[in-house]
Amino acid sequence: MIKSIEQLKKEKDVVILAHYYVDDEVQKVADYVGDSYYLSKIATTVPQKTILFCGVTFMGESAKLLNPNKKVLLPDATADCPMAHMAEISKIEEIKKQYKDVAVVCYINSTAELKQYVDVCVTSSNALKIVKNLPNEYIYFIPDYNLGHYIAEQIPEKKFIFNSGYCPVHQDITADSVKRKIKQYPNAKVLVHPECQSDVILLGDYVGSTSFLIQAAKKEEAEEFIVCTEKGILYELRKNCPNKDFYLAGEKQVCQGMKLVTLEKIRQTLEQEKPEQIVELSEDTIRLAKKPLEKMLELSE
Ligand code: 13P
Ligand code: SF4
Repeated sequence: MIKSIEQLKKEKDVVILAHYYVDDEVQKVADYVGDSYYLSKIATTVPQKTILFCGVTFMGESAKLLNPNKKVLLPDATADCPMAHMAEISKIEEIKKQYKDVAVVCYINSTAELKQYVDVCVTSSNALKIVKNLPNEYIYFIPDYNLGHYIAEQIPEKKFIFNSGYCPVHQDITADSVKRKIKQYPNAKVLVHPECQSDVILLGDYVGSTSFLIQAAKKEEAEEFIVCTEKGILYELRKNCPNKDFYLAGEKQVCQGMKLVTLEKIRQTLEQEKPEQIVELSEDTIRLAKKPLEKMLELSE
């Protein structure tokens, strides 16, 4: 299977990008694995004509928006992120009318449709820097309430308007379950993704994007870690820190969408390129929705 994927990739001039949350075997066949910011940046520099994105739909859409002339393939077009849909265009328009000096800041975990109406995109690794430097007095942060709230606490000079979106995987990690793990492993450091609720974030020794958490575990002297994010990250954590131990905080840290990507589907996509596996966006959507993504890349420099 891996050999035929390698061969098809070469024949068809395809690069494989994967997020840390996909299954281990999928991460192994990828050319680049990373967090959402790294993957969107790398998508703009790869020379291949086709990008096969092992992740959820909004990731494939973002790669397409940033590279409209490339073909972008998704092994499973139904691999969706529920949070990507948790904001409303009518509400954005209402807020823009109500607040004159407002920037609509949109987490990259959002549909291309939503991105058409926002000012700038952010990921968990650049949100703080970007929002801090925006000139606007008001920030309407969509769709994630938890990330928005985490950023807002660090930028008291701005006035935030929140939205109620959330990631079901991170929302399910409770402070009680983290506390229980801390009791069990008192020497462990706690790694927390900012999509978690604020009472979980408060328990974190390190809070940040998936890449940030992996780097933190590498540098940290401690030998045990409690992990408050999706379980796919364990593959890279254990690869980088073979002598350290990692424990998941809860029971249900599985992103259903990410797990729909399999080696078999990757091979099939490379072979057949079925219409539903090719990311298609209208010219208008590309024109409008790529702007906030390009702005994100510009402001993260
Ligand atoms: P990062 O990898 O950018 O931290 O994002 C996590 C996530 O939920 C991706 O869907
Ligand atoms: Fe969406 Fe959560 Fe899955 Fe990330 S982990 S893709 S935010 S559902």
